[in-house]
Amino acid sequence: MSAPHGRFSACTTATLILLVSACGGNPEVEGVTPSQAHMYAHFDRTREVHDALIRRKPEAVREGSSWLATHQDPGQTPEGSSPYGVAMTGEAAQVRDASDLRAAARATARMAAACGDCHQAYDVTPGFITGAQPSGSEAEDQMALHVWASEQMWRGLVGPDDYAWTSGASALKAGWLSPREVVADPALREKGQELVRQLYETGSRARQVTESHERAEVYGDFLNTCIDCHEMTAAIIG
Ligand code: HEC
Ligand code: HEC
Repeated sequence: MSAPHGRFSACTTATLILLVSACGGNPEVEGVTPSQAHMYAHFDRTREVHDALIRRKPEAVREGSSWLATHQDPGQTPEGSSPYGVAMTGEAAQVRDASDLRAAARATARMAAACGDCHQAYDVTPGFITGAQPSGSEAEDQMALHVWASEQMWRGLVGPDDYAWTSGASALKAGWLSPREVVADPALREKGQELVRQLYETGSRARQVTESHERAEVYGDFLNTCIDCHEMTAAIIG
């Protein structure tokens, strides 16, 4: 019943039906109901906000969250579910109105958990497609692993999906052995090491919590660590 929902199918569906969005790709998507299309659009926007946080692009964070905060529900969500919708748009408004990226990241994690709270209440299980966990020890493999972990944990929140959450959190165990390759300036390496350790610890905390609000808090910390290192290294991410 639920259409497969990978990163790219999310883009194409929303582009086709609801949004003029920046994603390209093949617009051939069949068998998608209006309420599913509405959900895909939400998923796309939340990912845009998430990725803009990692890229440290506050305008894009505000733009995406502002849409999520004000977007009218077309009346397709289940009867009686509006408090969940209000909770979700409330968190989106906090993302939009946050004074800095770190506060916005925490609110973004709570927003994703609010999506999952409604799904859980109505027994909805979005069918996400998961790519294989990246392996390899080069710096770029390890960066890909962190990105993969963040996607899995995100799906874990939105689903909610225990397996996705736990597999993402567990992947952090295999995190960077040394930040040397990504932190070019030797003076910053100690701090880089500390941030890498923080990600590792976030992974083990993540595996110990089950409630959506606890997971949201851990994910907020997690995103803050990504932001901290990108800020410190002035990483330019296209
Ligand atoms: C008020 C309740 C509610 C909230 C809040 C909510 N959803 Fe949903 N969501 C649903 C329902 C109900 C479905 C099942 C729709 C269907 O199958 O027709 C669904 C389905 C989905 C799907 C799967 C579509 C499919 O069947 O393949 C995705 C993805 C999704 N939601 C993402 C989100 C995201 C992201 C958010 C938060 C920004 C969110 N949802 C917030 C109720 C909600
Ligand atoms: C130890 C520092 C550090 C941490 C921690 C870190 N990053 Fe990065 N990241 C970087 C640097 C530096 C770059 C730029 C790399 C380059 O220019 O090749 C980067 C680039 C990226 C890119 C772009 C990759 C590409 O191929 O263009 C993404 C996506 C990314 N990081 C995601 C994340 C996520 C998600 C997290 C948190 C889970 C994270 N990073 C944590 C340092 C870090």
